[in-house]
Amino acid sequence: MTGVLVTGGTGKTGNALAELLRGNGVPVRVASRNPSDGDPDAVRFDWGDPTTHPAALSGMDRVYLVPPTNTTDPMPLVKPFLAEAERLGVRRVVLLGSAIVLPNAPGALELAARVRARPGWVVLRASGFMQNFLAPHPLGERIRRHGEIRTAAGAGRLGWIDTRDIAAAACALLIDPGVEPGDQRDYLLTGPKALSYQEAAAIITARTGRPIRVLHTGADELAGTYRAAGMPGEFAVALAAVEDGIKAGREDLVSTAVLDLTGRPPRRFAEFVQDHATEWAPVGSSEC
Ligand SMILES: NC(=O)c1ccc[n+]([C@@H]2O[C@H](COP(=O)([O-])OP(=O)(O)OC[C@H]3O[C@@H](n4cnc5c(N)ncnc54)[C@H](OP(=O)(O)O)[C@@H]3O)[C@@H](O)[C@H]2O)c1
Repeated sequence: MTGVLVTGGTGKTGNALAELLRGNGVPVRVASRNPSDGDPDAVRFDWGDPTTHPAALSGMDRVYLVPPTNTTDPMPLVKPFLAEAERLGVRRVVLLGSAIVLPNAPGALELAARVRARPGWVVLRASGFMQNFLAPHPLGERIRRHGEIRTAAGAGRLGWIDTRDIAAAACALLIDPGVEPGDQRDYLLTGPKALSYQEAAAIITARTGRPIRVLHTGADELAGTYRAAGMPGEFAVALAAVEDGIKAGREDLVSTAVLDLTGRPPRRFAEFVQDHATEWAPVGSSEC
């Protein structure tokens, strides 16, 4: 049998990708720590339990790889998995990487380099997710509860991307894993336009009618907010420090990769907001 093992298959990109692949007639295996009973495509998979890796990979010739979340160093957990994938002759790995490099966290770069080094394996360097503006992400949770965004990024802009467009780009690469020498191995994935937090908040306000305040804070305070939301300390500090780079304009980037790969332009932030407008209603407002 051949098909695609979708790690993070219950997450934002993985779930959408599995649907797209099924729609294109590609067999999928959906990996999760808690596979749903009765779904023949579901398989138990835990980064922290290497004994689950071989069975998940067995018979699959392609992999969508969502590395372990909330860690500054995914390599110790992913390395043995990649070694097993190589041993089994997996033709294509599509890694969900990040355009933003966490400070003092070389493990993510090491992982991307490892994937890029193998012919047919590719890295998606995704920009910040538009879905971060939705709960349960700490950013979205604060908007929903308090109608506010706290940021250390000032007026710096980011090329926010809708996770549905990441899934579509991954799908294009996984459906057609034909490998030619000189194939591109690295794609910067962004939305169509870079936006500051202030600009994003103004779009949410305009589309939903809910005023969203933007409060400027320091990276240390932001890290505290992330920690309070349950992120491990080291990861929270690294994630907050990213905002200094946004402030300096380092993430003010857009690419044509989604259009090039899928034939469709990436969704605009306003479209994303339209599709989720009810999710920013103030907490308690929908109660009878
Ligand atoms: N947020 C951003 O702006 C952004 C930007 C660029 C890249 N990224 C990257 O995108 C990735 C996804 O992040 P997300 O927060 O949006 O999460 P997500 O994909 O929505 O959900 C996390 C997924 O990972 C799975 N998972 C969690 N712990 C696992 C474990 N120990 N073993 C196996 N699977 C596990 C979960 O599956 P189960 O719970 O079913 O096991 C779930 O499907 C991260 O690697 C992040 O670095 C994020």
